[in-house]
Amino acid sequence: MAKPFFVTTPIYYVTDAPHIGHAYTTVAADVLARWRRLHGDDVKFLTGTDEHGLKIQRAAEQHGVTPNEWADTTSQRYRDTWALLGISYDDFIRTTEPRHRIAVQEFLQRIYNAGDIELGTYEGEYCVPCEAYYNADELEAGNCPIHLRAVDHVVEENYFFRLSRYQQRLLDYYAAHPHAIEPESKRNEVLGFIRGGLRDFSMSRTSITWGVPLPWDEGHVTYVWFDALINYCTAAGLGADDESFARFWPADVQLIGKDILRFHAVFWPAMLMAAGLELPRKIFAHGWLLVGGEKMSKTSLNQIAPEALVEEFGVDGFRYHFMADQRFGPDGDFSYESMVTRYNSDLANNFGNLANRVLNMATNYCDALVPLGRANGPLVAASEAAVRNANSCMESLDFSGALSATWDLMSATNAYVEASEPWKLHKRSETEACAAVLGDCLETLRIATLLAQAVIPDATSELWRRLGFGDHISAQRFPDALVWGQLPAGNVLTKGDPLFPRKDVVA
Ligand code: MSP
Repeated sequence: MAKPFFVTTPIYYVTDAPHIGHAYTTVAADVLARWRRLHGDDVKFLTGTDEHGLKIQRAAEQHGVTPNEWADTTSQRYRDTWALLGISYDDFIRTTEPRHRIAVQEFLQRIYNAGDIELGTYEGEYCVPCEAYYNADELEAGNCPIHLRAVDHVVEENYFFRLSRYQQRLLDYYAAHPHAIEPESKRNEVLGFIRGGLRDFSMSRTSITWGVPLPWDEGHVTYVWFDALINYCTAAGLGADDESFARFWPADVQLIGKDILRFHAVFWPAMLMAAGLELPRKIFAHGWLLVGGEKMSKTSLNQIAPEALVEEFGVDGFRYHFMADQRFGPDGDFSYESMVTRYNSDLANNFGNLANRVLNMATNYCDALVPLGRANGPLVAASEAAVRNANSCMESLDFSGALSATWDLMSATNAYVEASEPWKLHKRSETEACAAVLGDCLETLRIATLLAQAVIPDATSELWRRLGFGDHISAQRFPDALVWGQLPAGNVLTKGDPLFPRKDVVA
């Protein structure tokens, strides 16, 4: 039976429309999901929307609709955007679904029974956009350190989760599982925070009603983050499908942005320990996508909608850019100019041109059939190196590294064409030598196409078809399909329009 592989994105607040920052995490998760499917894994790729809490209640009030109506509309906008970007999720969870209420209540009851939840009074500062409490020493000039806006002073009788009990257990766990939080800088940040001491935190509200009621005290609703984190277990089947839950939990990779690291690497694991459940195998926190050096926000008016870029660069152009442009970890600045430059150099010139050139030559010199002969020249070693490097980069979620390994193979193929000049071989009627050179080029094209499939699914499917394959590229299985020499002689080749038409640089 295929190996299960469970990958998740954060669930997005339904406060407003998706922007390229949200798309960034989701495309990365999609690439990973597609990559694992190519390995034959039984992938469960989860995304969804986070719909409870004060922030959503207020957004709905501002728009004069009920929270439910607001959540329906905005959640659908996420689905539409993901459909546009070719996001192949297997499950889209909404925290307002009945299945989630069941799982949250089951989860909470377990913690309550374990004695890790007790009643107390909270007095302190709260940032609504973060849906998080802050200690006075964490504020910047009295403001939220993330949103730089005023916080609310709140006094409430709440239930508290006894996080303080988990300090040592978390440290022991992370010592025994050195790769549970990546990258390393983020792991160190988390360890520092835990060592600094953990305080119990309030996990219920009486001031709002928009949430999941506590099973033992219906006058309280669950604090939105407590409810939201449990979504990952709901989707795996907690409280509804034991077989599925046993199969998919714990998650293999949970992708998050760095701003929600503490929730995922401190609160979440402690909650799971309290509920007697296993911890995710890996939490990976990536940096922010900045625009003009700043985080995108409604107030800075610098949010970019994915639709605008897809219209111009296509779905593959969009996906490629964000996966190739910056390392998946540190912050990176988005710029339109560099998107045009990268599109032209990597997609139009390197990949697109190579594909066209090789297919044109093979059509003209080999009767549009994959030749029998192979030179088995320098491209054999180049392919093997690309496969090796791309694989090891993908293992460590280094998407840009995997792409550059793949694009190195394309550059090597272009250089090989230049050096072996098949058009001269053809002119001198050295038919076999010409066919052998083109045979190697077609073979690397096959391998590069497979390596790039998870990132640029549309162009690679088309190229797969042009290479004469009748099946869909996603039916291929790694690692076997990546072994040199499998392009069948006699496959009928097809020429076509450029896969990535060049863009003019707008001055
Ligand atoms: N609802 C919570 C997550 C709950 S998960 C149990 C939330 N939602 S969010 O919509 O505000 O953010 C979701 C994700 O988008 C976060 O990982 C956040 O880091 C990411 N991004 C939002 N803006 C971003 C950028 N500008 N760049 C990269 N990622 C960004 O937090």
